[in-house]
Amino acid sequence: MSATTQAALRIGVVGCGPISQNAHLEACRKANNAELYAICDTAADLLQRMACVHEPQKSYKDFDAMLADPKVDAVLIATADAFHIPLSLRALAAGKQKKKEKPLGVSIEECQMLQREVQRSGLKLQVANMKRYDPGIAFARRFIQEEMGGQLALKAWYCDSTYRYTMTDSLLPVPVASDQRQVPEDNPKETDRRRYFMLTHGSHLVDTARYLGGEIAAVQAQWVQRFGAHCWFVAVRFADGSVGHLDLTVAVRMDWHEGFQIYGEKGSVIGKTYLPWYLKSSDVECFSSATGEYRRVLGEDAQVYRRQVEGFADAVLHDRQPNPDAVDGLAAMKTMAAINRSVASGQWEQIESMKGVV
Ligand SMILES: NC(=O)c1ccc[n+]([C@@H]2O[C@H](COP(=O)([O-])OP(=O)(O)OC[C@H]3O[C@@H](n4cnc5c(N)ncnc54)[C@H](O)[C@@H]3O)[C@@H](O)[C@H]2O)c1
Repeated sequence: MSATTQAALRIGVVGCGPISQNAHLEACRKANNAELYAICDTAADLLQRMACVHEPQKSYKDFDAMLADPKVDAVLIATADAFHIPLSLRALAAGKQKKKEKPLGVSIEECQMLQREVQRSGLKLQVANMKRYDPGIAFARRFIQEEMGGQLALKAWYCDSTYRYTMTDSLLPVPVASDQRQVPEDNPKETDRRRYFMLTHGSHLVDTARYLGGEIAAVQAQWVQRFGAHCWFVAVRFADGSVGHLDLTVAVRMDWHEGFQIYGEKGSVIGKTYLPWYLKSSDVECFSSATGEYRRVLGEDAQVYRRQVEGFADAVLHDRQPNPDAVDGLAAMKTMAAINRSVASGQWEQIESMKGVV
């Protein structure tokens, strides 16, 4: 689709599992410039239940049938990680715009191939790192770009809580499950928790660090597993010469603990991010040495899932760059691969040279 006067992007969501139930289906319905036009899941019972609740115009059990529907402008891919790239490529071949869950894929090569194909097609692809649509994080980014000057250092941490499920059970509706749901053979959520934690949580941490701190050039990482908890401490060199430290811990024996500190030339930024399901803006304070004042935003609208659908629809309808795009998704994948490699080698690892499975 080229830039158009169409008011609402007609989205077909593939995958009616927990993330769609808790975020994407409602986000598409609430978005001011998109429509939940179709849904798709191979699990017929789940599809039927979600169709009753969300009343899309069309329901499809078969992804290719949804792709063949000319009224579907864009697909939102919300399936297990291993299916992200294969489904994205099929959507690309069908000429559809794509919004897809993070991580971009599971190997560097498949992500590079997708990124090349997206570039060649001229179609849009947005990766669902919804934290970029957190008003506090967006405020931090504006301050960094417009007022902070150069960067000296960045620290960012993403520490899942042992009480996560106590909190999410309280916050979220009862999930609708299905025995018929399609799961990949290679499913690290079941077989390899260390890998799963890096892909699912590391992709958020690395994306936030890149969004605020800029391109990451190299990392040196340590990893330890004790009493069922995993901890990665990662030293970072940014491409601009500044330094950083990333902390990915799953899970800390306390409340959800996520945030960042950035020390700049003409100011500093401190941010605290909440468990996403509270839909609460990060508390961010930006100190400007020009005014001698701390500033913060209210961030009253922190429905990040709806805001990112609106961002995606805006990119497609008005021919703007999606945020984040496939280049960002690939860079996050390479950074996670470098962290894994550095844990094994004990050396600094350059991001650019990364290959293989994350
Ligand atoms: N952005 C976030 O913060 C966030 C949070 C949670 C999960 N996620 C991501 O969302 C994705 C999905 O997570 P989930 O827990 O909902 O997964 P899930 O595997 O429980 O559910 C996915 C659904 O997709 C369906 N499906 C798979 N392949 C299909 C196909 N070819 N055609 C039609 N339907 C198909 C399955 O039947 C299943 O119902 C994962 O990549 C995960 O990392 C992101």
